[in-house]
Amino acid sequence: MTMEYESNSWIWDGLYYYPHFFGGLMLTAALLGVSTSYFGGIGVFSLPHLWSDCFHKKKCGKKKRVRVYMDGCFDLMHYGHANALRQAKALGDELVVGVVSDEEIIANKGPPVLSMEERLALVSGLKWVDEVIANAPYAITEQFMNRLFNEHKIDYIIHGDDPCLLPDGTDAYALAKKVGRYKQIKRTEGVSSTDIVGRILSSMEDTKACEDHNNASLPRDPLRAIQSKDAHLSQFLPTSRRIVQFSNCKGPGPNARVVYIDGAFDLFHAGHVEILKKARQLGDFLLVGIYTDQIVSEHRGSYHPIMHLHERSLSVLACRYVDEVIIGAPWEVTKDMGQSDPYEVAKSMGIFQLLESPKSITTTSVAQRIIANHEAYMKRNAKKAVSEKKYYEQKMFVSGD
Ligand code: CTP
Repeated sequence: MTMEYESNSWIWDGLYYYPHFFGGLMLTAALLGVSTSYFGGIGVFSLPHLWSDCFHKKKCGKKKRVRVYMDGCFDLMHYGHANALRQAKALGDELVVGVVSDEEIIANKGPPVLSMEERLALVSGLKWVDEVIANAPYAITEQFMNRLFNEHKIDYIIHGDDPCLLPDGTDAYALAKKVGRYKQIKRTEGVSSTDIVGRILSSMEDTKACEDHNNASLPRDPLRAIQSKDAHLSQFLPTSRRIVQFSNCKGPGPNARVVYIDGAFDLFHAGHVEILKKARQLGDFLLVGIYTDQIVSEHRGSYHPIMHLHERSLSVLACRYVDEVIIGAPWEVTKDMGQSDPYEVAKSMGIFQLLESPKSITTTSVAQRIIANHEAYMKRNAKKAVSEKKYYEQKMFVSGD
């Protein structure tokens, strides 16, 4: 098995370049005053990290920095994964994340929806992640554990409080537990990749049922449509504390160039990370407007968004390039409603810029991967649904959030 060790620096180097992405997302670059940036310009993305590193070293003196490791598949990465990594980071000073290889996911769970490269881009885009290891194994084997301790200087291996079992029923973290180098965080309730795949599959079934009705010239039962949409509604309950935990909690500096970008940001994917990175490079502070569920439904159809407003907001907020979000942004970037071009005012003020996406991935293309291979994903989901149900039935109190 090949294993690559990646340092944080590549995150800023723009590893991935693809032509086009999600139908030309509009970007409004609102340059609020020409200034020297408070971080020193476009090429300074790593500076906030360097600054915090120096600050930390000074504060800690010669004290050894605690390095923690968390691994995972991070398929269809959601705010539950982000919250797991946020909690892991809080258990140490530096967080190294192992992204499990496609082959290992297939062998242990079923086919992943996102490729290794896409999952790596998502994990690397998170604000709490310092380093990533690509193609990590699913189980902490003795050989890999020694490599973590000796080569990567890892102090603790971390996982959520949900059991992670190998096909033979043994605990994937047994060895780390045995040597006393295992720590646990609280799993985020109400979201999982299984749940997201389920939402997409059930919307596919509803659409199909609706088409069958239409083909048979039968009137569509509106109650059934509402009930089936409700059947795959999220169980997530947003709290103000969670938003604060994900937030940078600071506004733009006095002469900062503020960039505004808006969109649905549904099923947060590698293309979103790239466009947010590009947008952030245009200024000093990135404000992201997240459309309301209603706006997304109006423009993309009744089964959109797949993730609701608060879920989408947390995913965007977890991205390292984002400084702040507007939870429920309007379609038009103006106080005057009813204009055909939502960016008309911004254009007339000369503060509009259209960014070409470097990636071809879209929310729809991700959903289509699941629909095209729905039998395999139904199987994968059925298997995982059993262990998730068991987790909720047997869960015990674990400190952390
Ligand atoms: N995790 C979490 N909360 C969730 C989902 C995942 O805390 N709602 C944690 C897991 O406990 C694990 C890490 O995120 O430590 C990576 O999870 P992953 O390997 O992707 O697998 P799953 O736990 O199966 O995640 P999902 O159910 O979303 O597929």
